[in-house]
Amino acid sequence: MKRIAIPLTATLTVLASPAIAQAPAQAVAATALPNGVEISNGAATIRVQALTDSIIRVRIARGGAFPEDASWAVSAATRHEGVPVQSLADGFQTHALQVHVSPKSLGLTITDRQGLVVVRDNEARPLQFDGNGFTLRKSTPAAEQFYGFGDKTGPFNRRGASYVNWTTDAWGFDRGTDPIYKSIPFYIATGDKAGAYGLFLDNTFRSGFDFAHRDPETVAISADGGPIDYYIIAGPTVPDVVRRYTDLTGKAPLPPRWGMGYQQSRYSYMTATEVRDIAARLRSERIPSDVIWLDIDFQDRNRPFSTNAETFPDLKGLAHDVGERGFRLVAITDLHVAAAANQGYAPYDSGIAGDHFLKNADRSLYVAPVWPGPSVFPDFTRKSSRDWWGNLYKPFVADGIAGFWNDMNEPAIFETPTKTMPLSTTHRVDSDDFATRTATHAELHNVYGMENSRATYDGLLKLRPNVRPFVMTRATFAGGQKFAVTWTGDNNSTWDHLKLAVQQMLNLGLSGISWSGADIPGFIGGASPELATRWYEIAAFTPVFRGHAANNAPRAEPWVDGPDHLAIRRRFIEERYRLLPYFYEVAEQNTRTGDPIMRPTFYDYPELAKSPCDQAMAFTLGRDVLVAPSPKPESTHPYDACMPAPGWYDYWSGLPVSGERKDGTPFEVVRETPRLDRLPVFVRPGAIIAKQSLIQSTSETPQGPLEIHVYPGHDCSGKLYWDDGVSIRGATLRQTVRCTLGKDGIMLHFDKREGGFKPWWKQIAVTIHGWSGPARVRGVRDVEADAASRTVRFTIPDQKAAADFVLSRF
Ligand code: NOJ
Repeated sequence: MKRIAIPLTATLTVLASPAIAQAPAQAVAATALPNGVEISNGAATIRVQALTDSIIRVRIARGGAFPEDASWAVSAATRHEGVPVQSLADGFQTHALQVHVSPKSLGLTITDRQGLVVVRDNEARPLQFDGNGFTLRKSTPAAEQFYGFGDKTGPFNRRGASYVNWTTDAWGFDRGTDPIYKSIPFYIATGDKAGAYGLFLDNTFRSGFDFAHRDPETVAISADGGPIDYYIIAGPTVPDVVRRYTDLTGKAPLPPRWGMGYQQSRYSYMTATEVRDIAARLRSERIPSDVIWLDIDFQDRNRPFSTNAETFPDLKGLAHDVGERGFRLVAITDLHVAAAANQGYAPYDSGIAGDHFLKNADRSLYVAPVWPGPSVFPDFTRKSSRDWWGNLYKPFVADGIAGFWNDMNEPAIFETPTKTMPLSTTHRVDSDDFATRTATHAELHNVYGMENSRATYDGLLKLRPNVRPFVMTRATFAGGQKFAVTWTGDNNSTWDHLKLAVQQMLNLGLSGISWSGADIPGFIGGASPELATRWYEIAAFTPVFRGHAANNAPRAEPWVDGPDHLAIRRRFIEERYRLLPYFYEVAEQNTRTGDPIMRPTFYDYPELAKSPCDQAMAFTLGRDVLVAPSPKPESTHPYDACMPAPGWYDYWSGLPVSGERKDGTPFEVVRETPRLDRLPVFVRPGAIIAKQSLIQSTSETPQGPLEIHVYPGHDCSGKLYWDDGVSIRGATLRQTVRCTLGKDGIMLHFDKREGGFKPWWKQIAVTIHGWSGPARVRGVRDVEADAASRTVRFTIPDQKAAADFVLSRF
């Protein structure tokens, strides 16, 4: 993105616009800004600015005075970027867009440079003030569909539904529950002629979005208070929008590699002995795994940052011992600090001494019940309080706890129907470029969880400056991807929840939050063995891969349903570890581009939206691996899985798929009869996928060569990315591998490797799929062609320099 910084104080010129001249007898004033326009109709003033050619910021002030220009989601540096624009009679244009403002209503129309409407305000009522609140209305053509919007439930495509953004502890939520844990006021509209656009409302108050629910032609966006400050992010493609949205709100950092392995949790690992037993069982059952989680039970009387001295007498010893077996510990550290005065409880004492807790409206300390009983709550919107919080991790870090879990941070409060604190609870704002002031909970509720995870992330960075923090948060706001991974909260062990989990994770990924998971096999209620097995299979291809269940749910570790189910689950967990080199590269890509790790199929293959297959459960891992569970996962009825074009490969057998093409459509359709031990997964023709030999944890070095699987087809390439898995600043390795198809064979080309990281592999084992007949490779002695699997295999030394391998028929 090419941007320039344009100070708002640059010379302003008054627009002499015919449109403005014809405006009714209202005090219309228009000013051309170097990167936009400002127009006032007397009642309100709209300022529209181009941050880039495709990102337009819109701010509207009642009367003439704009509220403070500050944000929890978009940094000052980003907000103040701009590109020069060309004035139009009623607005301006960038290289990509035209912006038109009606001087009378201040209604906005944005088109592309061909004149196709990207987004248009509802002409009759674009803007309405209501007390401290407001409503904005955008028109929506019938073909438009809505995605993103965080973890919201309801239909996958949000058209026809309305939602409230108010982070809420939603224990036992269902498809109809709203609001739930996160508030991400960002949606992507797609399906209209000009392509996709995104809208991000940068407002932290309770907001409501109605996606053509009450009025089929209108998207209505309202908030109870706060600024009218939003961004229109033009595509035309969905990836364009997601990448630009994450340019605005930030890219997710790369988590440590161990966070990509299988993680075992349960609310009620009651003793250190039980944790050691779980670790031992995972190893004796040969279930590859990396992490064991400590829920609130390890604490003394549920007090955050304490340890139960009887049941967990030696946390450091425990971390060390499970560490010897290749496990890391992640410990919960809820934000509610026990209100335990004069008891030698350091978080309370130091928090009181530093004045770090929230207050009631009358300035007394706000105290309310959560797990520890009466609790107090850190003032995370103050930098100094975040710094204090971050330092609370020092003893746990010294004990060798590797990652931390910020739960209950909506914030959840017990014994109140609102499930949270009163709106009048007083926060202080002293952070970023905000003016230092007090603010009510009504303003800061939705960002409280994100600022909690930010405090944790920043604190860990200070304590271990070159180690990637691993933080998981339950509540978050737009931009929360910079600080923590997340999960979908207290879901149920039902088939519909398995489906909902996939859709929530996909919409989260489109909302910038790529690192998400859902409790396997559902937190509440206990899953049938079949549901649990299917859940493991699908989750093996999702970003955060964690088994977790409630304390009153039946045991849910992978082995609890007997050896047959365990054998299937193990096979999928193993596959996750084999696929790690590919997964890791996709994850690294996410840190630079914002492209989700787990993607709806329309992300890379928009044509699939028109396929005859129901895409409700289908997704891709990166661009190249297509996972196609039944759209009705509970059903044993056959269903169709679609690939966007012929030539795809079966992931498991490596063989070209032999599906069917229906009525001259471009889609390859495979009829799948569900079988519990099979999950249909396909590979793009043209993919080159890196894999490794099986390991039991990421702390083990894989034995043997790196495997490179080549699936010949168009646009044939794959990438390698590797590093030590934990450091922030360390050596890296990047390399592109390509293939070109000729008449008589295939050329495999290694680009020159970049970066000095020394990988574990000394050799590369190449498998070319979809080959028939004997083959030879120039310069390679042992080339093995196998007719049954239609493969050619050969092993070569590691390739650091650019090199070609030519595979031809005998
Ligand atoms: C609520 C969380 O959502 C759940 O995952 C956790 O087990 C319990 N709190 C207890 O900490």
